[in-house]
Amino acid sequence: MRVFASLSLIFFVLAVFCATPSTFAQNPIVQTQTISGGTPGGDAQAAANSARTEHDAQSAAQIQGITQDRTYAQNQADAQKAEAQARAQAIASRKAQWAGMQVAFTPPMGWNSWNHFAGNVTDKDIRAAADQLIATGMKDAGYIYVNIDDTWEGERDAHGELHTNAKFPDMKALADYVHSKGLKIGIYSSPGSKTCGGYAGSLGHEEQDAKMYAAWGFDYLKYDLCSFIGDVLEKQAPNDPAAQMKLMVGAYSKMDKALKATGRPIVYSFCQYGWDAVWEWGPSMGANLWRTTGDVTPEWDRIYSIVSQQAGLAAYSGPGHWNDPDMLEVGNGKLTLAENRSHFSWWALLAAPLLAGNDLPNMKPEIHDILTNRDVIAIDQDTLGRQGIRAYSDGEVEIWVRPLSTGALVLGIFDVGDSRYSTHPFHLKLSKLNLAATQTAKDLWTGKTVQLTDNMPLEITSHDVLLLRIDKPAVQLQ
Ligand code: GLA
Repeated sequence: MRVFASLSLIFFVLAVFCATPSTFAQNPIVQTQTISGGTPGGDAQAAANSARTEHDAQSAAQIQGITQDRTYAQNQADAQKAEAQARAQAIASRKAQWAGMQVAFTPPMGWNSWNHFAGNVTDKDIRAAADQLIATGMKDAGYIYVNIDDTWEGERDAHGELHTNAKFPDMKALADYVHSKGLKIGIYSSPGSKTCGGYAGSLGHEEQDAKMYAAWGFDYLKYDLCSFIGDVLEKQAPNDPAAQMKLMVGAYSKMDKALKATGRPIVYSFCQYGWDAVWEWGPSMGANLWRTTGDVTPEWDRIYSIVSQQAGLAAYSGPGHWNDPDMLEVGNGKLTLAENRSHFSWWALLAAPLLAGNDLPNMKPEIHDILTNRDVIAIDQDTLGRQGIRAYSDGEVEIWVRPLSTGALVLGIFDVGDSRYSTHPFHLKLSKLNLAATQTAKDLWTGKTVQLTDNMPLEITSHDVLLLRIDKPAVQLQ
């Protein structure tokens, strides 16, 4: 059922196809079949008639085949036209719904300091990251936000004004520098008294902090629950999840109002690890993105576990409000190239924010190629904004799908197993995706055109992915 619910575009095409009355029955060409009936006369005549009948029958069969093809082609064309119209309408209504929205129409893209620098990040590192986004072509590929994570904070003065610590001597000057490069800049805080790293949070100073971020010129805030749990939830509502949830929602809403009051468009990123089904209430509290899980680490098992926790969340995501499975670890730790490819492919299929977290000045060419693959980024940034889902799995192979605004369908075929168990070879069941038995696709990691056929054997090595874009998906005839 999940497969079918997920493939509404394809179903739409099929529905239109089925609803289109078949022209085959009324087609005059096909009626030539009926002229081969018996004619009075002798054996010769009968033989001639019989031969003609056979000949006509063959022609009729051929014509029927041709006619069916034509009918099929016509119906496909009609279906595609109707589908294109429906798609255009869907995009127009989403755009109207989010008219006036100045941020995050597509998932935010950029770089964040935490995954590489953690608590060691400095002003110099942020400037270098901005420079590197430009030098490496990542800015041109769409990576716009340079986000400072935790550990920039100093102490509050007698007026409650928060100062930076020695690692960040002048935030305004830093923001100006990043802006001068045509990039945007992000900052981090907590609704609690302390951040996760133990630095000053915004509790009791929300309006003051929001004004300061705006005055410095920040474009993005990541707001991390952290000590709000101990400071407020456990103190004010011990053992009362419903009351705790109310307090947490209130805290996120308070900062939303404070940010809006500044008049500056600021992306608002909720970081409370997916507690209390944040995807249900986050958007109405101003969230442009919300973490759906705990922290990512540069390990296959953690990445796969996060991916598995996205099941059921696709419907909550869309232009202006995105599920956030956490930042990218592409290029970090001991992830293999296959794992880096899979990680990036999944984030694109999930319409996830793409916040790189690697060592930019020392990025290897193969990591650069992954992070800047335009076809894969285009999936992530697709304006239909429909998050992909796992359509089916077969042994240790998972087949993910995501429809795009162009009418294309993306398939991600992941070998999530550690060995050859049950995956050698894997047979692709196009019929399970309601697709016709042959399709032309582009392999987005090799750039090659590939022909897909139903049940074809595919070799995918452990933790690798075959990412395919079918530009004109042909539906299955039924
Ligand atoms: C939490 C967040 C991380 C990072 C750290 C910083 O763990 O989930 O993404 O921001 O805090 O302390």
